[in-house]
Amino acid sequence: MKFKGVIFDLDGVICSTDEYHFLAWKALADLIGVTDFSREDNKLQRGVSRMESLEVVLRKSDKTYTDEQKIALAETKNDIYKNMLEKMSEKDLDGEVLSTLNKLRANGLKLAIGSSSKNTPFILERLGLGLFFDAVADGNCVTKSKPDPEVFLKAAEYLSLNPEDCLVVEDAVAGVQAGVAGGFKVAGIGEASKYEKTTYPIASFSDLLKITK
Ligand code: BG6
Ligand code: MG
Repeated sequence: MKFKGVIFDLDGVICSTDEYHFLAWKALADLIGVTDFSREDNKLQRGVSRMESLEVVLRKSDKTYTDEQKIALAETKNDIYKNMLEKMSEKDLDGEVLSTLNKLRANGLKLAIGSSSKNTPFILERLGLGLFFDAVADGNCVTKSKPDPEVFLKAAEYLSLNPEDCLVVEDAVAGVQAGVAGGFKVAGIGEASKYEKTTYPIASFSDLLKITK
């Protein structure tokens, strides 16, 4: 077996909350008069922290904001986002994702989450995965966000595995950079499948079964 563990990004890998992030940032952008916030802008928000994501929106504004105002804006976005999350349930967990996770575990791999999101525990609970993973490293336990490798190194440490024994799964360029910087091999889905630093570009979540064999 090539790997002993798999560390998954959450938003855009395990579930489609990346779309909710986009819609919530778009709503915030509209609120502050940034009318041309686009999906292209949103790509720069993938993988990075909430406050760094806010800066991507504010770069498009001609107003300046104090630190307190920025915190309030990030909170407003998070409230909009959490309203969307509250409507999620186990039905929002894709069947292919669930069956692949179960097969990977049956093949003897340890499974962890490595996400920049502070909403990770809430999302996992909504999806019925609250107790599923062997370890969870998220935005609540790191000081540096992707492309820094901290969150993946923490996840590997929680699994008691070395980076070279773990496969990272990512959808974001910043996430692939974080994985590579930490000494991990990285499977890239979606946007990350087109990025040159991605070790294994994949078209479908179940392709992970071939890679880890
Ligand atoms: C990452 C997303 O998973 O989490 C980013 O890709 C987001 O877009 C980051 O900014 C932080 O998320 P949250 O839920 O803590 O605001
Ligand atoms: Mg992601």
